[in-house]
Amino acid sequence: MNSSRRAQAIAPFHVMDILARARALEAQGRDIIHLEIGEPDFPTPAPVARAAIEAIENGELHYTPALGLPQLREAIAGFYRKRYGVEVPAARIAVTTGASGALLLALGALLDAGDEILMADPGYPCNRHFASFIDARPVAIPVGPDTAFQLTAQLVERHWTENTKAVLLASPSNPTGTLARDEEIRGIAAWCAKRGATLIVDEIYHGLVYEAPPQTALAQAEEIVVINSFSKYFHMTGWRLGWLAAPAGLLGGIERLAQNLFLAPPTPAQFAALAAFSEETAAILEARRQELKARRDFLLPALRELGFGLSVAPQGAFYLYADVSRFSGDSFVFAERLLEQAGVAITPGVDFGAVAPQRHVRFAYTRPLPVLQEAVARIRRFLAERRA
Ligand SMILES: Cc1ncc(COP(=O)(O)O)c(C=O)c1O
Repeated sequence: MNSSRRAQAIAPFHVMDILARARALEAQGRDIIHLEIGEPDFPTPAPVARAAIEAIENGELHYTPALGLPQLREAIAGFYRKRYGVEVPAARIAVTTGASGALLLALGALLDAGDEILMADPGYPCNRHFASFIDARPVAIPVGPDTAFQLTAQLVERHWTENTKAVLLASPSNPTGTLARDEEIRGIAAWCAKRGATLIVDEIYHGLVYEAPPQTALAQAEEIVVINSFSKYFHMTGWRLGWLAAPAGLLGGIERLAQNLFLAPPTPAQFAALAAFSEETAAILEARRQELKARRDFLLPALRELGFGLSVAPQGAFYLYADVSRFSGDSFVFAERLLEQAGVAITPGVDFGAVAPQRHVRFAYTRPLPVLQEAVARIRRFLAERRA
């Protein structure tokens, strides 16, 4: 049976080929260092896991309201108040099935068939597929080191058409780890507001910034949608829980979509997440942020020293998007050889868009420091052997 044209049009993740080969090599007894996977090695913080166990033992496993447990929506509103000094009423917050669910709901509530949504290339690959899934048109705008791989108000203006209805930013970005500037967020939001369009800012990596903590886009503009998640900063990838904050007028549409597409976000995960904002959890998360910073501070200069192009230092997330053109004209082949010969798995640029993907690879510093040191030693030997 053939799947729909829509399903066939979705590009596969090329990193899955790398991962499959890495697993096959491991099955043969090879030691592989995994720097391709976009989730850190830390377990879910213990207070969060305990809260879920308690909820399960208490039998609290019924559907919740479609927009989430009221006390969790309140806790998220409290998070914005405490962390950013921003008032976001709980009524404007929807708990979702990961940032993935939030992105689908936001795009579904904002866009009709044929509407255009502007996004950066390179960027998170699923975004363009969320858009095409609802018959909207993703418009990829090439970005590079000159704008720290982020959209700017000027780029948005240049690519605007009468069909543009939304702009999507991710700050910090996947794959580049770079932040959008507050002035640009304000400029893009104002431009959108004047034209009846909406800015969506994905802040899934916001807690994982290693310089001065950034301000949420909700402090820059009111009528925007902000996406976040328990996956990355809170180390809860498998719990499938995220959220969005949206203008009041959009919540009705989001609720109707959420009721029909998901009924409700996962209940044990929501009870777990109630413990994610406690002081005890905050201390664990801060120690991990420091650990990730130490990893970045090791890997960034080490890769630069080996000759990888990393002209913009990423401020956050756990990714380094490196130019490999000094070593190879095809980053996929480079990633394959690095895996086969050195046992280091990385993600080729082709997964992140059409802008010079053959020149780039993504390193995820999701392994402990000694493992990263071993990875750098292996890459050094690999490059030396190629030159010999
Ligand atoms: C930029 C970005 N947005 C959204 C997601 C989806 O995350 P989740 O659905 O696990 O919350 C990811 C996952 O890697 C991501 O990198």
